[in-house]
Amino acid sequence: MLDLKKTKKEMESIAIVDNVKLNDDETKIIILNQVLLPNAIEYKEIDNLKDAYDAIKKLEIRGAPAIGIFAGYVMYILSLKDRDLAFEEFFKNFKNNKEYLNSSRPTAVNLSWALNRMEKVVTDNKDKDVKEIISKLKEEAKKIHNEDIEMCLKISEYGLSLLKDGDGVLTHCNAGPIATSYGTAQGPLLLSKARGMHIKVFADETRPLLQGARLTSFEMEKAGVDVTLICDNIASIVMRNGWVQACFVGCDRIAANGDVANKIGTSGVAILAKHYGIPVYSLGPSSTIDMNCPDGDHIKIELRDPEEIKNMWYEKPMALKEVKCYNPSFDVTDHELLTGIVTEKGIIYPPFDINLKKIFE
Ligand code: MRU
Repeated sequence: MLDLKKTKKEMESIAIVDNVKLNDDETKIIILNQVLLPNAIEYKEIDNLKDAYDAIKKLEIRGAPAIGIFAGYVMYILSLKDRDLAFEEFFKNFKNNKEYLNSSRPTAVNLSWALNRMEKVVTDNKDKDVKEIISKLKEEAKKIHNEDIEMCLKISEYGLSLLKDGDGVLTHCNAGPIATSYGTAQGPLLLSKARGMHIKVFADETRPLLQGARLTSFEMEKAGVDVTLICDNIASIVMRNGWVQACFVGCDRIAANGDVANKIGTSGVAILAKHYGIPVYSLGPSSTIDMNCPDGDHIKIELRDPEEIKNMWYEKPMALKEVKCYNPSFDVTDHELLTGIVTEKGIIYPPFDINLKKIFE
């Protein structure tokens, strides 16, 4: 039996930054502006649809669970502006806002999952006064947030049960408290530190947007975890050196057969790990599992601006203006490369098509 109060205290003893919350009078959302990290810790207020859309699109708020939490709060604060409308008008605006926000990023299912939960609150209460519906929307947004906290704590416990003192863990992208509540793929690594274990973390820098360098190594270092930052193409040699006993990666959408979409480069990590006989676990809340999506071929992969490869982070362009770039933000790791999927419901092992179904029964 897990003692989540104890886990929460342990996690809180480790440096954790608030990534998304409502302001004091609950009319605006305050997000940690992730694009400025690690050079500045700055918070930004969001109180309108355009800024909310841009915050997701520009990765000011990112990480599948954090996007879901944010989306819940956005639908609530936008509904405040429509408090004096009749239900039909209110619902029409709600649907338009929802559709626009949902188009900000396509791959992480947590966005549409949270938006659908918020819409269900409206349709389930359509006979009630609009003001009452708005207060239920606030409750639901907070519920999504609180559930994520609990899921992160459980995932951290289950993930840590896969490690022993002294292990090396390679991780890709950022799935720590900045991207979630207390962390999914990086949650167990923080918990290990809180428990006095010594886990050596290898953080892939994660080209082109450097979430591993800017965010994961920042979170790990601040928490006092033994972290070594590596370029993505160094993963193979640290595995060959025998320094990695497990790979922990996040997930943005898990298909019904266990194929996992995560940050670009994750599938390469899994292919290398298979070569070196290293187990690979994808860690994330069950809200990331999309049982309506049969396999990875049905996951829409976001394509991003070539400038992120050629220009961003550099003083001068690193390629000619006319050079073509292919910049998919995610890739799909074939389920056969995964040892297990860690959710708040436990560790799921193959055959994933059968065992994923079971957790929803
Ligand atoms: O494009 P990003 O930075 O939102 O990509 C995020 C990832 O791929 C993470 O690994 C992910 O969302 C896993 S869950 C925190």
